[in-house]
Amino acid sequence: MTPWHKFLVVALTASLSILAAPVRALDNGQARTPPMGWNSWNAFHCDVSAALVEATADAMVDSGMKAAGYTYVNIDDCWLLKQRGAKGELVPDPAKFPQGIKAVADYVHRKGLKLGIYESAGTVTCADYPGSIGHETQDAAQFARWGVDYLKYDNCGDYQGQTYPQRYTAMRDALAASGRAIVYSICEWGNESPWHWAPAVGNLWRTTQDITPRWETDQAANHYPQGIMDIVDQQAALAGTSHPGAWNDPDMLEVGNGYLTDDENRAHFSLWALLNAPLIAGNDVRHMSKDVRTILTNTDVIAVDQDWGGRQGSKLRDDGDTEVWAKPMSDGSVAVILLNRGRGPVDISTSAGAIGVKAADSYTVRDLWKHSDATSDESIKASVPTHAVAMFRVWPGAHAAKPGTAS
Ligand code: GLA
Repeated sequence: MTPWHKFLVVALTASLSILAAPVRALDNGQARTPPMGWNSWNAFHCDVSAALVEATADAMVDSGMKAAGYTYVNIDDCWLLKQRGAKGELVPDPAKFPQGIKAVADYVHRKGLKLGIYESAGTVTCADYPGSIGHETQDAAQFARWGVDYLKYDNCGDYQGQTYPQRYTAMRDALAASGRAIVYSICEWGNESPWHWAPAVGNLWRTTQDITPRWETDQAANHYPQGIMDIVDQQAALAGTSHPGAWNDPDMLEVGNGYLTDDENRAHFSLWALLNAPLIAGNDVRHMSKDVRTILTNTDVIAVDQDWGGRQGSKLRDDGDTEVWAKPMSDGSVAVILLNRGRGPVDISTSAGAIGVKAADSYTVRDLWKHSDATSDESIKASVPTHAVAMFRVWPGAHAAKPGTAS
C-alpha cells in the first residue's frame, strides 16, 4: 500500500467512525438509579430558609426516610436576592440563609444527606430572581464551592435566542467543568420532547407541566397545573426513553399534600415507582402523619423504583376506568399495578403470562402494600377501591426473600 493509499484508508475509517458514533449519553456517574429526596416547592413555595432545610434533613433521618433511600434535600426557587453581587455572583438571601448556602450544605452533609439547589436556564427564575443564562460557568463553580450535589435547572426568563438544547447543554458543560459530582435535573416541562435529546444532557428531565395535589386536573383552571392522572397519561408512551443515569421525571411527589386520600397517595407513589420516576417528596416531612410516612417509606415499592435494570414500566391494558401497568424487574419478577381511576370499588384481574412473567407451574405473588406473599396458579386479581391501586410483584415459582427486602 502506498503512503497515499494508507492516508485514504485512515481518513475514510476516521470519517466513518464519526458518522457511526451514537448520540453521546451523559456519563457523569450520577443517578444510576432514580434520585430520591425532598424538595421545598410543592409544600412551601417561596417560603424557604436554612431553618426549614435543616429541620427537614433532621426529619428525614428521624422518620426513616434516609434509611429507606432518600438522600437529596433540595432547595427550590426564592433562595437568592433579586440582584447579583458586585462580581456578578448569586447572593443567597441573608434573611432566609443567614450563614449562606455552604453552612447549610455542611449541616446536610453531616447528616449523611446531600444538598440540592435551583436555578433557571433563562434571564430569571420562575419567581423572578436572577437566572443563570450567560453566567453558567460562574454559577456552577459557585454551587460546587458551596458543596451542592444536585441542580434543578428550570425554564423561565428570556432565552436570548438560544435553543433548548443549547441552554441546557451550557449548564451541563459548566457543571462538568466545576469538578464536583452534581446530579443535573432538567426542568423544561416536557416542552421540547426532552426524552429525545436530554439523555445526552441531564440525569433527569421533567416530562410535563407542574403537578398539583389533585387526582384529576381541575378543568376549570384551564388544564394547569396538572392532576396526577393527567400526568400518568402523559407517561405511557415514554417507557423506552429512560435508562440508568437518565430518567423521565413526571414531577415531584404530592404524597401528603392537599386533600389526597390515603388511597390516592398510595396510587400516586406506586405509579411513580413503576415509572422509575425520581422519588422527590414534596410534603412537610417535619409534620407528616404516620400514614404518609408509611407510604413514603414503603421499601417494597421503593425497590421497584430503584431496580438496577432501569426499565421503566408501561401501560399494558386500558379499559377506561381501570388500567393494568407493569415493569419487568432485573431478577425476572414483574411488578404490576391494577389501577382504579373510577368511583366505586371494582374487581381488576390480569395473569402472570399477560404481564410477562416466565411460564411456571405456580407463581409467588407479593402484595407490595400488605407485605404478604401468596401462591397463585396464574391469575392476579384484586378488588380495588375508588381512586386506588393494588400493587404486586410476581415471581415464577417459589420465591424465598422476605417481604420488605429489595431483592
Ligand atoms: C416552575 C417549576 C416548579 C418550581 C417553580 C419555582 O414552575 O416547574 O417545579 O420549581 O417553577 O418557581
